[in-house]
Parts: sequence; structure tokens; C-alpha cells
Amino acid sequence: MQRVYLDHNATTPILPEVVDRMTAALRDEFGNPSSVHHFGQQAKAAIDEARTSVAALLGADPSEVLFTSGGTESDNIAIRGAAEALEPAGRRHLIASAIEHEAVLNTLKALGKRGWRTTLLPVDQSGITSPGVLRDALADDTALVSVMHANNEIGTIQPIAALARLARERGALFHTDAVQSAGKIPVSVKTMDVDMLSISAHKFYGPKGVGALWIRRGLRVLPLLTGGRQERSRRAGTENVAGIVGMGVAARIARGKMAEEGARLSALRDRLEAGILAAVPGTAVNGAPESRVPNTTNISFDRVEAESLLIALDLGGIAVSTGSACSSGTLEPSHVLKAMGFNAHRAQNSIRFSLGAANTEAEIDRVIAVLPGIVDKLRSLTRAPVRA
Ligand SMILES: Cc1ncc(COP(=O)(O)O)c(C=O)c1O
Repeated sequence: MQRVYLDHNATTPILPEVVDRMTAALRDEFGNPSSVHHFGQQAKAAIDEARTSVAALLGADPSEVLFTSGGTESDNIAIRGAAEALEPAGRRHLIASAIEHEAVLNTLKALGKRGWRTTLLPVDQSGITSPGVLRDALADDTALVSVMHANNEIGTIQPIAALARLARERGALFHTDAVQSAGKIPVSVKTMDVDMLSISAHKFYGPKGVGALWIRRGLRVLPLLTGGRQERSRRAGTENVAGIVGMGVAARIARGKMAEEGARLSALRDRLEAGILAAVPGTAVNGAPESRVPNTTNISFDRVEAESLLIALDLGGIAVSTGSACSSGTLEPSHVLKAMGFNAHRAQNSIRFSLGAANTEAEIDRVIAVLPGIVDKLRSLTRAPVRA
């Protein structure tokens, strides 16, 4: 069966160029980057080159890019590192939007248990955090505000520059999780004027288990890992050379293709969205129609359990995802859709379609063609009387 992969916000397939460069790094650049000899310096040079490519993707200076094990660690260093650095100054208040990824939400929760005051900012029906809401939440003791650039479930893009300006006016730091925007739309640390920004390689056709945190020069962030002096003493441990090198190649390619690929994907996404809305009654798009990353749409299917639809589509060779987290048999409604004000039913009957490099018009048309039949079948099952 020809399978259609529409779950690129979960992860992307690694590019062949990335695999080739990583293979060469594993084989040939095996030296420890901290070693003074030729082998060490060769590995260090490979990391430096990757740092330059990642910095270019973010409009940043390479010296401000810290390599990590992925988006989750980048978010943790930004939040925990800044919270702990600012604690002695009496700043014990942390703010995040209610629709952040768990990497941010659960970090705030953990710090909340250790005495930090935390505030989750509400969003409007399209998933946007308004500057006015942040202005009201900021306090004299706010240490850090963390608002994601693009949301992983609905793709909505936040007004980061305006939010960051408000935080700065009150002396608070601003972090943005740009894991779902980097490589898809222009991300510039200068234009956004943030203090820290997280990205992850596997969301833009790089390897899993490697990411980066951009930290504004001069900003003090306490390390999570203590040990050697790698990454300017901000993250101890011998570097994941091959992963970092792979991330560098993926960043360079993403930057080169971004404009063209973004236009192609948004046309495909719009075709998919319009096709589904026309072919399947009782459907609606969740999120901001204009302010969205080009590859994502999140659609509610009235009277359909998203999990059942996901499984039926998978049996038909189409991979999508739900915004809901299914753990130990209980389907939790998406915290993002709940925060947008949707009731539990709508928050549980939504599917995320996230497109990427290999998707074609023919694939999109196949999805549009099979969906009405699958949805009809699921709806007819829902209507059937429940047997004792
Ligand atoms: C918005 C966002 N932040 C953070 C992460 C975590 O990144 P990683 O998988 O690299 O730890 C993800 C991944 O799903 C994400 O979508």
C-alpha cells in the first residue's frame, strides 16, 4: 500500500543529504571536540560549521547558539536556567501561554511545586495570546515569559515581538519555543527581539535527539547539566557531533528552500482544507486562518471520535494525528482546543493534518476522496443503539 504521511509536526523524515553527512561524521569525525589534537579539532570544526548554519536559520550570531538534545531540553534550560538565575533577585513568577507544548507546561508545573508562582495566559478562539492579556499578567517579580512562536496542534503564529516588548518593559525575560516554526517560516531573533529561542532538528528533516537554544549574548542562564566546559559551560558533556552536524545540514537546506516550499505547502494545505470542508458535512477548521504556519490544518469532525478516525485513516494508509493525548485508554481532550474555548466534544473530535516535503497533490486528493466514506461509516456507528 502507498502510504501518505501527514504528521510532519510530530516528526519529519530525515533528508538523505543529512544522513550522508552524519554517516561521514560518525565514521571520520570521531575525535572528541575538546581534544587539542587533529582529530579533536576536526570534530570541533564540524560543530562550528553546523553552529554557523543554525545561527543563519535564526538570524543570530553563532556564538549565541547552544546545542542540546532537542526542543524539550532547550525549553527546560531556558525556563529552569533563567528561573534559577533570577531567583536571588526575588523574581519568582513565571508566565506561559495555556497552549504551550508539555515541555514548557510541565516545566512550569514542576517549578510551581518548588515555590515559583505561575500564570497561564488564556488565548482567544483562534489560539492567539493577546498582548493585553500579557500586560495584565506581568508583575514586578515576573522572571520569565514563555510563549511559543507557532503551535504544534493548530499552527497558529503568536505576535511574539509585541509580547516580548511588554515583558522587557517590566524587566522580565522572554523565551519563545520556535520548534514548530523554525525551517517553515522566517524566524529571526532580532525581529522578534526575544531573549531565548528553542528549536529542534527533527522538525525540519534533521535527526532526532538534537536541538538548539539561542541565548542572547550576556544573559545569565544556569546550566541543567554540570560537568565539563562544553558549550561555553552551559551544557556539559561530550557533544553529539553527528547529530549536530546533521542539524546543521538540515538548517542550511531548510533556509534555502523555505520560501518556495512554504508557498507549495500552503497551497496543498488550502486544497486539503477546502476539499474536506466541501466533501464532509459537519466540519470546521480550528485556529487562525491567516496567521498559521503553511503546513498545518486542524479540523473538527462533528460526531466523530478523532481517535477512531485516526485509526480508520491509518488502516487506509493515511497517517495523521489527533490533538488529544491518549494515555492508558482515557482520551484527554486537547489542552490547546480547550484553552480556545471549545467544549470537550469538539476538543476530542479534531484531527491535525501536517504536511511536508514529500506530499503531492495526488496524495491530498486521495485523502479528500476517502474521508467522506470513513466519516459516514463512523457516524452511522455512533448513531447505532448501544447494546447491553
Ligand atoms: C512546540 C514544541 N515544543 C517542543 C517540542 C519537543 O521537541 P523534542 O521532540 O525535540 O524534544 C515539540 C515536539 O513535539 C513541539 O512541537
